[in-house]
Amino acid sequence: MTTEQKMIAVRAWDAPVRVFHWLLILLLGFQVYSAKTGGQAMLWHLYGGYAVLTLILFRLLWGFAGGTHARFADFVAGPSAAWRFAKSLISPRSAYFIGHNPLGGWMVLAMLASLALQAITGLFANDDIATEGPLAVLISKKLSDQMTSLHHWNLWILAALAVLHVVAVFYHRLVKKEDLIQAMFTGVKRLPEEVVAASGTPRKASPWVALVVFAAANAAVFLLVKRPF
Ligand code: HEM
Ligand code: HEM
Repeated sequence: MTTEQKMIAVRAWDAPVRVFHWLLILLLGFQVYSAKTGGQAMLWHLYGGYAVLTLILFRLLWGFAGGTHARFADFVAGPSAAWRFAKSLISPRSAYFIGHNPLGGWMVLAMLASLALQAITGLFANDDIATEGPLAVLISKKLSDQMTSLHHWNLWILAALAVLHVVAVFYHRLVKKEDLIQAMFTGVKRLPEEVVAASGTPRKASPWVALVVFAAANAAVFLLVKRPF
């Protein structure tokens, strides 16, 4: 970046994306804590699991109904764009993006997939003592045990992705001097004027649509867990 480049503030993340992100981290911490505590805490592990499932479902739907940079169409790039960006990363002059960069977009998909796998396998898992996921009754004990072992193994994949994710965020901070963390709190990034000008007018997220999508995600998880029909 040249010193004469003018930086301007631009809204990158809508409120639902930011709330989703920080709530997800808190809930993941709670999930690991409650599972390791065991006993009575396993009931809370199930409740926390429903909350994670609701969040993931919300984020998937928001990827189609949210503001410009929350949408999958905005950040899911082809492999060649991701590779080009990866190569350019060695230089602090690599391109700027208002939303996720092409490589980050794939990372987001990988994290969402691993999170979904963790939550879905949990629904069918059992601890051989007193706790089982609400859908374990629908499958054989052998299959439930296999789901439980996937639930254990996938935690390591999720943890590895999360570590890589945080390392990438700090790489941006230290090498590119881009404060992505602050942007995930405030929603605002400071970027070169021409990057912002080239991106056109962003589509704003509607809080009403967010509420409807959130209600739909809650209803879907309720129906899945309680199976009233
Ligand atoms: C997505 C976030 C989740 C995380 C990070 C997570 C994490 C864990 C971990 C680390 C264990 C193993 C504890 C141990 O024995 O060392 C565990 C066990 C378990 N989890 Fe989850 N879990 C999540 C979601 C869920 C959900 C959605 C359910 C069901 C509604 C669930 C149900 C169970 C059950 C039944 C066990 C007992 C299995 C066993 O003890 O081996 N989990 N979970
Ligand atoms: C304290 C540690 C963490 C920090 C500082 C952090 C920071 C960030 C930042 C700055 C972004 C935006 C990246 C960009 O500008 O393109 C982001 C996105 C994201 N992070 Fe994290 N993160 C952390 C932990 C996690 C964990 C543990 C997970 C779950 C595995 C996670 C999942 C995600 C997801 C799914 C997104 C995409 C957000 C969206 O588009 O909805 N993060 N994170």
